[in-house]
Formats: sequence, structure tokens, C-alpha cells
Amino acid sequence: MNSFLSRESILVILLLAICFVSEAQKCRPSGMIRGKKSPSGQCNQEQDPDCCRPGKMYPTYTCSPAVSGNTHAYLTLNSFEAGGDGSLPSECDNKYHNDSTPIVALSTGWYKNGGRCHNNIKITANDRSVVAMVVDECDSTRGCDADHDYLPPCANNIIVASKAVWEGLHVSKENWGGLDVTWNDA
Ligand SMILES: *[C@@H]1O[C@H](CO)[C@@H](O)[C@H](O)[C@H]1NC(C)=O
Repeated sequence: MNSFLSRESILVILLLAICFVSEAQKCRPSGMIRGKKSPSGQCNQEQDPDCCRPGKMYPTYTCSPAVSGNTHAYLTLNSFEAGGDGSLPSECDNKYHNDSTPIVALSTGWYKNGGRCHNNIKITANDRSVVAMVVDECDSTRGCDADHDYLPPCANNIIVASKAVWEGLHVSKENWGGLDVTWNDA
């Protein structure tokens, strides 16, 4: 007996539905920022290749990739101390933090408007894990201006970590600064 919808067509519909849902979950840019020439003495391309390039377009994001038990992220390094590269105090508490403690900043979507402030996350790489506290945002919505040291907006999948996190993951010091990791809420 043949039903109206064959087994094959049900399968096709199911696959299309799955594609549609996963497409809807993708995080797409919310806008673009045009790099401006920084005032002399501030970040510029000759000193720091990361600085905004005049005229170049940079995507902004209000979202981050969906969080699972095993979310992929790119780990970077920064200081959270006064006089460190971060320059401003952490957004969660308007305070500076000791880089000897495992602390992180998250891209705007994951920061959830402060919703993860002072929560712990578990960061995993190379079969090692470190639990770190969220204290700051890595702003994916703005950049290339004085408030952001003329650096581009943050990508949507960034964990900025203190040196304690890099030590905890047993990454040798010459390799600090950029690493593919996974994380989950701890
Ligand atoms: C950070 O903490 C370490 C270890 O507890 C301590 O030795 C160091 O002086 C602290 N640094 C600052 C800037 O407070």
C-alpha cells in the first residue's frame, strides 16, 4: 500500500527542515564599519598589523554562534590589569583584574549583555580544561574608534583570556595568543 507521501519525500522534507533550522541559527553580520585613519601616535598599521585599515570594511555582530556543550571558539590573550592592553576596566564590574587569575572576555553574543558576568566557563584544548570567570565583553558591535584603540570589532567567536588561562591549558609561552578551543558553561 502506498501512502500519499512516500518514504523518500518525507526524508527530503525532513532534510529541508533541518537545513532551514540550522540556517536560521547561523550568526550573520549585523552591519559593517569602515576603518578610519587613526590620529598620529595612536594605533596604526605600521606599528600594529591588527589596527583598522583606513577604508577597509569590517563586519559587526550582535550574535555569536549557538552555544552547545562543546562550542568552538578562538582563544586570544590580553591583560585585564590597570595599564594593560585592555586599557579600560572590565565591563562586568568596572574593575581591573589580576592576570594571574583565570578570567575571560567573550564576544558580544556570548557575553549576552552581561548575562554571563561572573559565571564560570570551562575552556578545553588538547585534552586539558581550565575553568575561568567571565568579567568582560569583547565588543563585536563597534571598533575602529578611540574607545577601541582603533582596533576592529571583535569577531563573534572570541574568548579573550588572561595569561593564567594559557598557563592552565599548558600552552608553551611562545605559542600564546591564538588557539582553537571549545568551551561550555561550567
Ligand atoms: C596578582 O596575584 C599574584 C598572585 O597572587 C601576586 O603575586 C601579584 O602581585 C598580583 N598582581 C597584582 C597586580 O595585584
